[in-house]
Amino acid sequence: MAETILEVRGISKSFPGVKALDKVDFSLDKGTVHALVGENGAGKSTLMMILGGVYSQDEGEIILEGNPVNFESSYAANRKGISVVYQELSLVPNLSVAENIFAYRQPVNRLDLISWNTLYRQTEDILKIFELDDINPKTLVSELSMAQRQVVEILKAMSVNPKILIFDEPTSSLTEVETKELFINLNKLKAEGI
Ligand SMILES: Nc1ncnc2c1ncn2[C@@H]1O[C@H](COP(=O)(O)OP(=O)(O)O)[C@@H](O)[C@H]1O
Ligand SMILES: [Mg+2]
Repeated sequence: MAETILEVRGISKSFPGVKALDKVDFSLDKGTVHALVGENGAGKSTLMMILGGVYSQDEGEIILEGNPVNFESSYAANRKGISVVYQELSLVPNLSVAENIFAYRQPVNRLDLISWNTLYRQTEDILKIFELDDINPKTLVSELSMAQRQVVEILKAMSVNPKILIFDEPTSSLTEVETKELFINLNKLKAEGI
C-alpha cells in the first residue's frame, strides 16, 4: 500500500502585492516522482522554498511522516530529510568540488581536522554514481561549466541521504546526456523509496 511521507494542507504565501500561493494542497507517497508544472510566476519555486525551510508559509500545515513540522531554516528542513536543489545555485566558486558537496559536513580525523583524503575519496565515490570521473574533487567550482555546476549542486543535495529530494528546474542548464543521467539516477532513488 502507498505510504504517505509528506502532506501539505492549505498553504498560502503572499509577497508584497502578490499572492504567490493560495491554499495549496499536495501529498507525496514514498518512492514516487512528481512534476510540478506551471507558467512563470505560478508559485512553483515559492512552494519548494517553503518545503525547504527558506520561507515560512502565511497559513497552512506541512505534515512530514505524520507529524506537523515548522522549519526554521534550510538546515532544519535538511536535518528532517528534505533536500532542495535550488534554481539559483548555492555553490561557493572559490572552493573545491569536494568542499562544496560536503560543506559543513567535512569528514574529520581524531584531532578534529578535516580529513582531506577521506573527503576526496567520498567525493570520488559520489562522482562515480553519476559517471563523472572526469571531474576532479579538488577542482574549484569556478573552473566548472554551468552544467557541471548544476550536477555538483545535485550531488550535494543527494549526498545527505534525503528522504525527499526536490529539484527546481534541474535540467535547465543540463545537456541531453546529463539529463538522461539525472533521470536514471532519479529512478534509482525512487526504487530506494526516496
Ligand atoms: N522574494 C520575493 N519577493 C517578492 N515577490 C516574489 C518573491 N519570490 C517570488 N515572488 C513572486 O511570487 C510569484 C511566484 O513566483 P515563483 O514562486 O518564483 O514562481 P515560479 O517558480 O512558478 O516561476 C511571482 O509573482 C513572483 O514575482
Ligand atoms: Mg521558479
